[in-house]
Amino acid sequence: MGTYEPNLSAEMSDQELSRAIEQLKKEKNAVIMAHYYQRDEVQRIADRIGDSLALAQYAATTDADVIVMCGVHFMGETAKILCPDKTVLIPDADAGCSLADSCDADEFARFVKAHPGHTVISYVNTSAAVKAVTDIVVTSGNARKIVDSLPADEKIIFGPDRNLGGYINSVTGRDMVLWPGACHVHDRFSLEGIAELRRMHPDAKVLVHPECRKPLQLIADKVGSTAALLEYARTSEASEFIVVTESGILYEMQNKCPDKTFIPAPAQDAECQCNQCEYMKLGTLRKIYEALKTGKPEVTVDPEIAQKALRPIRRMLELSK
Ligand code: 13P
Ligand code: SF4
Repeated sequence: MGTYEPNLSAEMSDQELSRAIEQLKKEKNAVIMAHYYQRDEVQRIADRIGDSLALAQYAATTDADVIVMCGVHFMGETAKILCPDKTVLIPDADAGCSLADSCDADEFARFVKAHPGHTVISYVNTSAAVKAVTDIVVTSGNARKIVDSLPADEKIIFGPDRNLGGYINSVTGRDMVLWPGACHVHDRFSLEGIAELRRMHPDAKVLVHPECRKPLQLIADKVGSTAALLEYARTSEASEFIVVTESGILYEMQNKCPDKTFIPAPAQDAECQCNQCEYMKLGTLRKIYEALKTGKPEVTVDPEIAQKALRPIRRMLELSK
């Protein structure tokens, strides 16, 4: 019979949890990385916060033994592929991604086969199995630079985000073949709601993530990855911004620019909080504490798939320098 262990974390305050996490981090030589869409309190205790590209870069260079990836599953997989000898933990194993789910690996492999002679570019928001049939991985932070680095006549498949792919086609003049996937958060922002906000805040700059639909990209003052939008806000002379991406980014925007005003854009269904990614919000202090304490849930990737997926991720890191 097992011994009874009271669930102490259920009774701990955020402050106590933060202290306990700090202690466990030292004991295990662990590092906590968090995406900008994570809950405020998770971003606050993270050693590194960043966009998808920065998180992959941090994972590739850390000397910690344990990485706690506070993001969604594909981010944990990318870290594990880059660091097969490290333990990669994710606070909640159910933190998936609707965009990654919109691209089934077997269907994508058939799509690739149906387009012989094409270079395959996949957004980092994909499963390891999709990356395994990919030539170069990209993020929203480097997609344009990487596509631009390829010969002008190179035939390209881009997956899975049709909005980001369409945006890259429009700014590079390419005609990449697009996989028809989308993120359920970015695909649902309301053009009318944003137009209304602009009427109320005529001097506000509109910041749009390229996973949003084209009409939103067209009204943007800046289209870019979360890190690019943050940098634009930081260096802009404007004092008000309408932010058309997952609203977790407002935490770091407000941190970096305490005197500026950031207004989260509404989703099409004004009743719901659809400008938040429920998968990203699954990460909590309590779950980070439990993950560090128990070593679970651990992210694992089939070694054969990991080996194939490593090459296009490494190519991305090389081409992003
Ligand atoms: P970036 O952080 O790369 O802009 O990606 C946004 C995103 O949707 C991550 O899931
Ligand atoms: Fe995936 Fe969209 Fe959530 Fe990003 S915001 S993790 S793309 S579902």
